[in-house]
Amino acid sequence: MSLSIIILAAGQGTRMYSELPKVLHQLAGKSLLEHVHHTASMLETRGIHIIYGYGGDQLIEEHSHLDVDWVEQKEQLGTGHAVKQALPNIPDKDLVLVLYGDVPLITNETLSDLVNAAEETTFSLLTTFVEDPRGYGRIVRNKNDEVSRIVEEKDASKDEKKIREINTGMMVVNGKALKQWVEKLEDNNAQSEFYLTDVIEMAVNDGIKVNAVQPYSEVEIRGVNDRAQLAELERYYQLIQAHQLMRRGITIMDPGRFDLRGDLEIDSDCYIDINVILEGRLKIGSGVRIGANCIIKDTIIDDNVEILPNSVIENAVIGKACRIGPFARIRPETVLNENVHIGNFVEIKKSVVGSGSKVNHLSYIGDSEVGTNTNIGAGVITCNYDGANKHKTIIGDNVFIGSDVQLVAPVSVSSGATIAAGTTITKDVAENELALSRTPQKSMSDWKRPGKK
Ligand code: UD1
Ligand code: CA
Repeated sequence: MSLSIIILAAGQGTRMYSELPKVLHQLAGKSLLEHVHHTASMLETRGIHIIYGYGGDQLIEEHSHLDVDWVEQKEQLGTGHAVKQALPNIPDKDLVLVLYGDVPLITNETLSDLVNAAEETTFSLLTTFVEDPRGYGRIVRNKNDEVSRIVEEKDASKDEKKIREINTGMMVVNGKALKQWVEKLEDNNAQSEFYLTDVIEMAVNDGIKVNAVQPYSEVEIRGVNDRAQLAELERYYQLIQAHQLMRRGITIMDPGRFDLRGDLEIDSDCYIDINVILEGRLKIGSGVRIGANCIIKDTIIDDNVEILPNSVIENAVIGKACRIGPFARIRPETVLNENVHIGNFVEIKKSVVGSGSKVNHLSYIGDSEVGTNTNIGAGVITCNYDGANKHKTIIGDNVFIGSDVQLVAPVSVSSGATIAAGTTITKDVAENELALSRTPQKSMSDWKRPGKK
């Protein structure tokens, strides 16, 4: 049987107090909706239909990379009304899986169980037992312990409110039957909404057994209604990610202070100290050590690199056995070849640094090409910007640049050259030359410093 999936995402999310539609809020660097979509797309499906309402343009634009059918629900008249909007696009013979865009941690394993259960009886429902059922629809079972209907909190009697088995909202239903039942929904209830949950009783009346399935973990069914719940799920998700990495041979000093907001490919024997944030797409080799408080985004890091604490790296390629930091900033489009050392308070932008070269202290290297085994002293600045345009600095192999040198770009320093400390380079330097620009030192003997009055 083919499977069509409907993701409900039309709610505004009033309790987020936000301009953003709720499902656009991020968990681990991806929108809530994208998490649900990702899990949904792991199932074999004919198509994914997303019901949107509030903030539609923004929602569609932010998810333009997803292959989905966007269906507008102009007025939010209830979950039954929401599902109805997508049904004309779904073939009768399909099974229809209903998911919520604001329940991001549902797993593929649970959904597979739910789909299998529907293949038996044409109708399955994801329920769970909770300590505090307040706010949820309650599962009412008959004397044979079969599901007979769902009653919403606001419509429940005193006794029904005591039921601890709740509706997660996720279900799988035969398409043709669902179309018929949804047509018959009425809004004569406490919230004057068309409840999707009312189809349970209709199915039972038609002699269909509603197969109840439970998730592997309670967090899978938790929704995000406010920012506190979002933060709880974020921490939970980060713990799951940290544990997956630890099981694969990565040391994480404190899994409670680890944040991966994106996709990480990493080899074994890496070590990650506390408060590291990894963002975007990252590829990290083996034996890499990342010190405390580093932020690394969209970067490729080869084997045995050591990144010392408080370094920030974005969109760079770091070669084998480089040593970076502490307090280094590697900006976009930087390529460091093997064994490069970048020290404290050094900023490198859009530059290539050849293997074995060192920039150890307090320098700015931008729009540059640096050869191999070159030493750049403390406080060296490439003056790459003339106020209007950016210019390149080319530095060869085995160059020695003394401390506090300015290289006024465009300029090139050929291999083997030496530049004396304090020099301002404005002209190209030839191979093996010494370049020096300094005002001669004056000395005055027995100098008296002014004294306090
Ligand atoms: C719903 C269920 C309840 C269940 C609970 C689980 C119904 C009637 N009730 O209640 O049994 O325990 O979820 O969290 O289904 N939505 C739309 N369009 C609408 C209304 C809702 O897209 O017109 C979307 C919301 O964005 C949300 C989801 O459907 O993602 C659930 O809606 P919500 O209003 O939160 O339903 P609950 O009252 O929590
Ligand atoms: Ca809800």
